Amino acid sequence: MRIGVFDSGYGGLTILEQFRALLPQYSYVYLGDNARTPYGTRSFDVVYQYTLQCVKKLFEMDCALVILACNTASAKALRTIQQKDLPLLYPNRRVLGVIRPTAECIGQITQSNHVGLLGTEGTIQSGSYPMEVNKLFPHITVTGQACPMWVPLIENNEHLSDGADYFVKQYIDKLLQNDPAIDTMVLACTHYPMLLDKIKKHAPKHMHIISQGPIIAESLASYLQKHPEIDAVLDKQGDCTFYTTESVEKFKQSASTFLKTPIEAHHLSW
Ligand code: DGL
Repeated sequence: MRIGVFDSGYGGLTILEQFRALLPQYSYVYLGDNARTPYGTRSFDVVYQYTLQCVKKLFEMDCALVILACNTASAKALRTIQQKDLPLLYPNRRVLGVIRPTAECIGQITQSNHVGLLGTEGTIQSGSYPMEVNKLFPHITVTGQACPMWVPLIENNEHLSDGADYFVKQYIDKLLQNDPAIDTMVLACTHYPMLLDKIKKHAPKHMHIISQGPIIAESLASYLQKHPEIDAVLDKQGDCTFYTTESVEKFKQSASTFLKTPIEAHHLSW
């Protein structure tokens, strides 16, 4: 069986890349729901329905474990899938998200105890991050800033253009106007590491900028150590297969930019 990695589009590739660097022995199936991206502006119910549909597909493709490498899906669909759908449909399979492991790291990094959260509208509005962070670190103030232009810039391969600087600066400035004491910014959307150079350029020099990939990879490694029953059923041939709900050609081209290496991809039909 394999490990499924799901995102609304290309963003989850920044997580997959770190999985393959830290845990190269496992076999992965990546599914990007590019036909319906972005999820960030969609309602709870729609994100839940789309995510569940994709998780089911990954289970049909023999995934024992699926990582929602998407903050929006983790914020809006993970809990219902874990509590309602899995026990009924797939009691022996697991679905994990990206919010909890990220929240666990934040307390060790901030010194001012003021943290800024950059994410999609859906992730920010869900309030999932402040809730998770404050369960563990009640003294930390979390201020969110939705960045609705960032995912479209990345999905359309415009993230390195000069035009992208305008939107990167705009959201960082807004966040820091709302809380100038922030010393740590979380890139709470798996697409955003693609904008890292520009984010660093427009953020104050002292700012800690957290990308999720390495954090989620460490957390998967420790999950597999603690769950030998899942680890035992996982294939260890180091394969990776890519699926998209949109055009295969477009996916291959963009995913190769994300991963900096050519890949093959397949179309997912429902
Ligand atoms: N990459 C996704 C996330 O981490 C979502 C992007 C989107 O579809 O809006 O939130």
